[in-house]
Amino acid sequence: MTTDYYRWAGPLIRKLPPEAAHRAAILALRSGLVPPLPAIQHPSLAVELWGLRFPNPVGLAAGFDKNGEVPDALLGQGFGFVEVGTVTPRAQPGNPKPRMFRLTEDAAIINRMGFNNQGMEAMAARLAARPRAGIVGVNLGKNKDTEDAAADYEKGAARLAPFADYLVINVSSPNTPGLRALQSPDQLATLVRRTRGALDEATDMAKRPPLLLKIAPDLVEADLAAIAQVALGGALDGLIVSNTTVARPETLISIHARESGGLSGAPLFDPSTQVLRRMYRLTKGKLPLIGVGGIGSALDAYVKIRAGASLVQLYSALVYEGTALVGRINQDLVTLLARDGFANVAQAVGADQRAVRR
Ligand SMILES: Cc1cc2nc3c(=O)[nH]c(=O)nc-3n(C[C@H](O)[C@H](O)[C@H](O)COP(=O)(O)O)c2cc1C
Repeated sequence: MTTDYYRWAGPLIRKLPPEAAHRAAILALRSGLVPPLPAIQHPSLAVELWGLRFPNPVGLAAGFDKNGEVPDALLGQGFGFVEVGTVTPRAQPGNPKPRMFRLTEDAAIINRMGFNNQGMEAMAARLAARPRAGIVGVNLGKNKDTEDAAADYEKGAARLAPFADYLVINVSSPNTPGLRALQSPDQLATLVRRTRGALDEATDMAKRPPLLLKIAPDLVEADLAAIAQVALGGALDGLIVSNTTVARPETLISIHARESGGLSGAPLFDPSTQVLRRMYRLTKGKLPLIGVGGIGSALDAYVKIRAGASLVQLYSALVYEGTALVGRINQDLVTLLARDGFANVAQAVGADQRAVRR
């Protein structure tokens, strides 16, 4: 067993305010201070999607490495893939601090960062310099002051496609005014069509990364149905379900529960899994889904897979548990798959829904 440095480093890091702790973690990863954790290797964990081979289904969700500073160090912590961003065409500072809160008693986080990032040129330079090993997706957003939102996604897709194993249109962060309205039926089809058009123009067919859409957990049924229709129309290669929620479950007990922004972590598990389940049904299991929201254990990841996720991602649980959690999830996932007679992750995808239909 490798040493879990977070057992001693975690409590020290969490003495810092959340954003300073986050910066310290990035710097530690960048300087090589964090020892690599060997990935759990098992044939049942490997996932083939979009012509890519994911060594395991557990990815790092967007928002941790917003500027693409440490994707390889993060892959070295055992993740099957890493999503960098959200990146906007131009650098922007984000919202005033404090803008990230630990809800420790709730195993949750609230953030209202507002897409603070160094812009797509800085991201492109870093990604161009890295060895192309390990799967890195790039999550795209719009600048706060951009009026023609689709133009920003066009720019991001065209500029970053050469360095991305997949691209994500993020229209679901609650901290950029008007952003989530882009998920509405009348706006989404145009946004997706324009982004795909820019992507097609900028890259050769053979090198074109798959295009995904990341959605909010707070959508109503009519929106979900419209999104599924756009996705099945061939404009999208997958969906990420979901981003943070603006809802505040009554169960929250932390003093920070009323901060504005997006809630993530344990309280997001049920609502995001419900939307995932619904999306799997609406897309008839034909479209790869990435399940994210409140995953803190192998069982959580497994529930998402059985609800319809081909891959999963996490962020908030890492704040409380450190990256050794990734290995534990993969290790226990092997056991859970074998227990239920699945030879691999793909066989378990949507299993609950198949059982319901029979
Ligand atoms: C501090 C913080 C910043 C985030 N920033 C982004 C972001 O820039 N883009 C994005 O698509 N999601 C962002 N997210 C959302 C996560 O990618 C993820 O969808 C959400 O946190 C749910 O997963 P979790 O419960 O495992 O944290 C952020 C989450 C947190 C906690």
